[in-house]
Amino acid sequence: MEESVRRVWSALDREASRLSVASIADLFASDADRTSRFTLESADLRLDFSRQRIDSGALAVLVALAEATEVPAKRDAMFAGESINSTEGRSVLHTALRAPIGTRIEVGGVDVVHAVHSARERMAHLVDGMRAEGIRTVVNIGIGGSDLGPAMAAGALAPFATTGIGARFVSNVDPADLAACLAGLDARTTALVVSSKTFTTQETMANARSAVRWLATGLGLDEESAVSTRVYAVTSNIAAATAFGVAESRTLPMWDWVGGRFSLASAIGFSLMCSIGPENFEAMLAGMHAIDRHFVETPLDRNGPVLLGLVGIMNRNGFGYGSRAVIPYLQQLARFPAYLQQLEMESNGKRSDIDGEAVLRHTSPVVWGEPGTNGQHAFFQLLHQGTDIVPVDFIGARRSTARGLDPDDVDSQHEKLVANLFAQAAALAFGAPAATDNPHALGEHRAFPGNRPSTTILMDALTPSTLGQLIALYEHATFVQGAVWGINSFDQWGVELGKALAGDVSSHIADRAAPTNLDPATRAAVAWYRP
Ligand code: F6P
Repeated sequence: MEESVRRVWSALDREASRLSVASIADLFASDADRTSRFTLESADLRLDFSRQRIDSGALAVLVALAEATEVPAKRDAMFAGESINSTEGRSVLHTALRAPIGTRIEVGGVDVVHAVHSARERMAHLVDGMRAEGIRTVVNIGIGGSDLGPAMAAGALAPFATTGIGARFVSNVDPADLAACLAGLDARTTALVVSSKTFTTQETMANARSAVRWLATGLGLDEESAVSTRVYAVTSNIAAATAFGVAESRTLPMWDWVGGRFSLASAIGFSLMCSIGPENFEAMLAGMHAIDRHFVETPLDRNGPVLLGLVGIMNRNGFGYGSRAVIPYLQQLARFPAYLQQLEMESNGKRSDIDGEAVLRHTSPVVWGEPGTNGQHAFFQLLHQGTDIVPVDFIGARRSTARGLDPDDVDSQHEKLVANLFAQAAALAFGAPAATDNPHALGEHRAFPGNRPSTTILMDALTPSTLGQLIALYEHATFVQGAVWGINSFDQWGVELGKALAGDVSSHIADRAAPTNLDPATRAAVAWYRP
């Protein structure tokens, strides 16, 4: 690590120890403008960092850290299509997926924005075809980035499902997942979308084969005919999709310059588009692009993704908090924490820097969460009074998009939801002393220490555009953190050993006599499983 960077890290440590003796309440008391100073707008999102343990001095050091670690130059290199995923020799161009037509970005002499737009025209055309054929449900078969993004977004945008085609998602190789996904479906009105960048992922291919058998049985066709008429593929491995029997006209492209966890805006979002329609899909992309512009054009100290990332750095490295909760006060965002887990933990859960040296600072915290208010009746006890401090990201909207209920009921329930969000952020930040006026008071048991940081992200309503903005906000915050830590946020070598061992274990289960390198405990487990 360069000396100049080391110096800024040391300054950050000093800021953290200075701030560790000041409570969030003290920070508010000493700055009448604190709320507006630490609240900013990023496109249509309102980001309130005022309940974080930062002040102007700390913010200046965090911004200096972003500059010293060359966040702006790294950002520009990403947007320009430079090969920043160095361990895989790839560009990182999810931002090109939502760039307007005419934007010129080339990889290997190919105009990627043009390729993206022609793929999207094909997606829209295939959706029209499905509607004409009377398809009522698409089953997306994928895992990780080929599942979490579209599944999360389909739930988030359920009120915008306009095509008459429902989307279901199956990911786990556990047959119970596929059985539940297919339950009640009529093969005659169902299409399968096999979403896999590599088209080799064990879980996806096993589910695809079983689902094809289900489809063929339901249609009274042989498997080959069932695949050629009712199966779509999204992949960068066109040859494997063709070998599986998927017609070329039903195969949509993926590119090696899009990482799985950043791929929702690509054809990996096809199942989502089948359900919300091309127009809403485009609106989501426009929302993402609005944040892309904001990220590129806004000074660092007013830049939403930059500050979200830097506040995370302060919490992780300044104060040593090992986890972060993401609590959407929007039931439709129920899968958002799971989506963020892959985005952040697969991107930034790394112990080696970009040069292969050990990192000197902790990297990604554990990211977890559930929607509010449910979480309040489950794990919020620990957030308020536990021994670990867990920073929280609260996400909420001014209006509900829920449909099918009396509008007055929607309004009044939504108001309660929002009131709870605001109340929880306040309770965590400011706490409350133990009641002393009651002879039966339970003293410390009833005291709330407060000083527990949170960020609040608000929008008018959860729409395709604001969802796109929220996704891009976190994508870029994840990038900022990876850039500050000096790691490659775009590979995922840590998933490989388990995959390889699963192959070895499967072989050992199939043929116990074959030589194996498996450890004694695993061999014993196999012997128990198949005596
Ligand atoms: O195992 C991790 C991973 O490679 C993720 O990064 C990816 O999103 C997921 O598997 C699925 O991969 P694919 O789209 O190739 O099936």
